[in-house]
Amino acid sequence: MILVTGGAGFIGANFVLDWLAQSDETVINLDKLTYAGNLENLATLTGVAQHIFVQGDIGDSALVAALLAKHQPRAVINFAAESHVDRSIHGPEDFIQTNVVGTFRFLEAVRAYWNGLAAEAKAGFRLLHVSTDEVYGSLAKEDAAFSETHQYEPNSPYSASKAASDHLVRAWHHTYGLPVLTTNCSNNYGPFHFPEKLIPLMIVNALAGKPLPVYGDGQQIRDWLYVKDHCSAIRRVLEAGVLGETYNVGGWNEKPNLDIVHTVCRLLDELQPRADGKPYQEQITYVTDRPGHDRRYAIDASKIERELGWKPAETFETGIRKTVQWYLQHQDWVSHVQSGAYRDWVEKNYDGRAA
Ligand code: NAD
Ligand code: DAU
Repeated sequence: MILVTGGAGFIGANFVLDWLAQSDETVINLDKLTYAGNLENLATLTGVAQHIFVQGDIGDSALVAALLAKHQPRAVINFAAESHVDRSIHGPEDFIQTNVVGTFRFLEAVRAYWNGLAAEAKAGFRLLHVSTDEVYGSLAKEDAAFSETHQYEPNSPYSASKAASDHLVRAWHHTYGLPVLTTNCSNNYGPFHFPEKLIPLMIVNALAGKPLPVYGDGQQIRDWLYVKDHCSAIRRVLEAGVLGETYNVGGWNEKPNLDIVHTVCRLLDELQPRADGKPYQEQITYVTDRPGHDRRYAIDASKIERELGWKPAETFETGIRKTVQWYLQHQDWVSHVQSGAYRDWVEKNYDGRAA
C-alpha cells in the first residue's frame, strides 16, 4: 500500500481517485482537513475498502509513526501543504508550520520507519515530495524556461516555504540516504480546484454575476497543466524516477492571465450564456496587484519526457473545456465549499483592493 498526505485537497484528491481507478493497491490518506481539504472530493470512494482516510497533521510525529508502523507502506507521497500565495501574504505562519516544520517532522518519522525496514522493503521504499515551479522565482519574457538546475529564488512566503521543504527533502537524501524523489510542477487546473485560485474563481464569480478580479495588468504568465496530467507524471516518477533526482512537470503551455480569463468567459458564453445575452467578459475588473507578484513562470519539461517518457494527455483547449463543464455540472460542490470561512477570506483578500 501507499501513504498519501493532503489527499483531500485539489491535486491529492485527483491523485487518489486516479490511483484507485487504475489499481487495487490501498491508499492511506492522511489529511488535516484545513479549509482546503474536502472529503466531498472523495465521495465516490465511500465504501471502497482500498481507501483509508485518517484526519491528522503531517507534523504529528506520533500519529505518522503509528500509521507507518501499522500499514507498512511501500511508498509515501507528500502533497500536504498550505498552497495559496495570497493567503501566505496575509498570514505566513501556517505556511512555515506545515510546509517547513511539518515537512521536517514528516521526514524524520519516515526516516525512522525506513531505517527499521528489512533489506528488501528498504531498498524498494520511496518518498515522493510534490513541489512547485514557484521555488525558481520569476522569469523575464526572453528567459529560457525553468530547468531542474535553475537556481532557487522564491519570492513569496508560500514559495519560500516550499523551497525550504525541497531543501530538507534533498538534505535527508544526501545525508541520511532517504530514498526521495521531488517533482516541481507548474500551475494545475481541473476538477475540485478550490475557488480561491484564478480559474475556478473566475468560473464561480462569472456565474454568480460578480466581478472577475484581474490583478495588476493581467499580463503575468503562468504555465498551465491539467491536474490529471500532473497525477500521471507523479505515478511515472514514483515508478521509474532516479532516487535523489528532481523532475520538472509542465505542459509547455504559457498564457497571460488575461487570456485565461477571456477563455473562461468565452466558454461560459457558449455553454451557459448570461440571461441578459451580454458577454461574461464585461464582468472583468482590474484590481490592485499581488505584492511581489512573479511575472512569468515556464517549465522546461524535457527531462521527464526524455528520461521517463512522460507527456501530458490534454491540450489546454481540451482541459479547460472539461474544467468549465465540470464546474457547470457540480454547482452543489461549489456551494458546499463556499462556507463561512471561505466567505471571510474573500472579504479579506478583495475588500480594500482599489479598482
Ligand atoms: P490544496 O490547498 O488544494 O490542498 C492541500 C491539502 O493538504 C488539503 O487537503 C489540506 O487539508 C491538506 N493539509 C494542509 N496542511 C496539512 C497538514 N499540516 N497535515 C496534513 N494535511 C494538510 O493544495 P493543492 O493545490 O492540491 O496542492 C497540493 C500540493 O501540490 C502542494 O504541496 C502544492 O505546493 C503542490 N503544487 C500545487 C500546484 C497547483 O497548481 N495547485 C502546482 C504545483 C505544486
Ligand atoms: O505555479 C504553481 C503554483 O500555482 C502552485 O505552487 C500554487 O500552489 C498554486 O496556487 C498556483 O499559484 P499561483 O499564484 O500562480 O495561482 P493563483 O491561481 O493564485 O493565481 C494565478 C495567477 O492569476 C497569478 O498570476 C495571480 C492571478 N490572479 C489570481 C487570483 C486569485 C488574479 O489575477 N486574480 C485573482 O483573483
